[in-house]
Amino acid sequence: MEQKLLQMAEEAKKVLEEAKSLEEINEVRIRYLGKKGELTRILRGMGALPPDRRPRVGQVANEVREVIEATIAARTAAVKERIKQARLLAEKIDLTLPGTNFSLGHFHPLTLVQRQIEDIFLGLGFEIAEGPEVELDYYNFEALNIPKDHPARDMQDTFFIGEEVVLRTHTSPVQVRTMERMAGRIPVKVIAPGKVYRRDDDATHSPMFHQVEGLAIDTRITFGDLKGVLQTFAAEMFGTSTRTRFRPSFFPFTEPSAEMDISCVMCGGRGCRVCSYSGWLEILGCGSVHPQVLEMSGYNSEEVTGFAFGMGIERITMLKYGIDDLRLFFDNDLRFLEQF
Ligand code: DAH
Repeated sequence: MEQKLLQMAEEAKKVLEEAKSLEEINEVRIRYLGKKGELTRILRGMGALPPDRRPRVGQVANEVREVIEATIAARTAAVKERIKQARLLAEKIDLTLPGTNFSLGHFHPLTLVQRQIEDIFLGLGFEIAEGPEVELDYYNFEALNIPKDHPARDMQDTFFIGEEVVLRTHTSPVQVRTMERMAGRIPVKVIAPGKVYRRDDDATHSPMFHQVEGLAIDTRITFGDLKGVLQTFAAEMFGTSTRTRFRPSFFPFTEPSAEMDISCVMCGGRGCRVCSYSGWLEILGCGSVHPQVLEMSGYNSEEVTGFAFGMGIERITMLKYGIDDLRLFFDNDLRFLEQF
């Protein structure tokens, strides 16, 4: 039986020498080492051997298997190398040709503008604060001086998650969270960029959009500080010739409240279609922080004052780049996105 095994090994080696393709090599493997192959067939005779000879035969069988496997491996490598050489000859690869360009992605226009806004305010000494997008009613409304039955709630079509939990309708709740975190310390100077949500959907409204909130608290902060900061912002964002104006408005969390306009970025204020021939574009809401809001979040409104503002990043981006439909930001059409 040992003899048979050794013979089989010799035979297999010879056959392998002749195998010219990977398929042929595989056939040889199956023929000798496969489940129904030669080796198995010979070993079936083991039962007939006297027990004391079986270990020796088993050992030879293992050796034979190893020898055949090693021969297969060597032959496979040789055949592969031959195939490669043949291909290299046939293809004539020109290593001096330029490589394939792969294109890099880039930032979304809203991200670009958000970063630019952040840079401007960081330069003015503000820090960046964050808050959750799934927000408590308390932070989104109550603590901003908007009680349950207040008509101002109608201004913001709210997505409710639960009785007391909403998708934040603006970034203003980060004002409250920041004041709580600062626990009465001054100065406070933060901006809070992020996503907000309202039940709204047309060419100028999206159910998800972005705002940047601003909040400053210190002793003797005045409306003049607010105007100075926002005028600087407008000049850096839209160019130094940009003028600003403040119109009285109403927000429950500021008193007095204002809307800030900038001179039209398209016509410079002469009047055009974009500014409805008024020369002005509204870009944000702002005001002096309402004493009630300061008090609710642990600040003494006799000792400190503050200003706050909130702007929509989509609107700023649309004005900056002359984009007339907000839905373009979220369609993910590369023909649009690749322009930035
Ligand atoms: N939260 C307001 C909104 O979404 C915007 C706003 C107005 C924020 C005045 C402010 C502010 O901080 O002082 O419509």
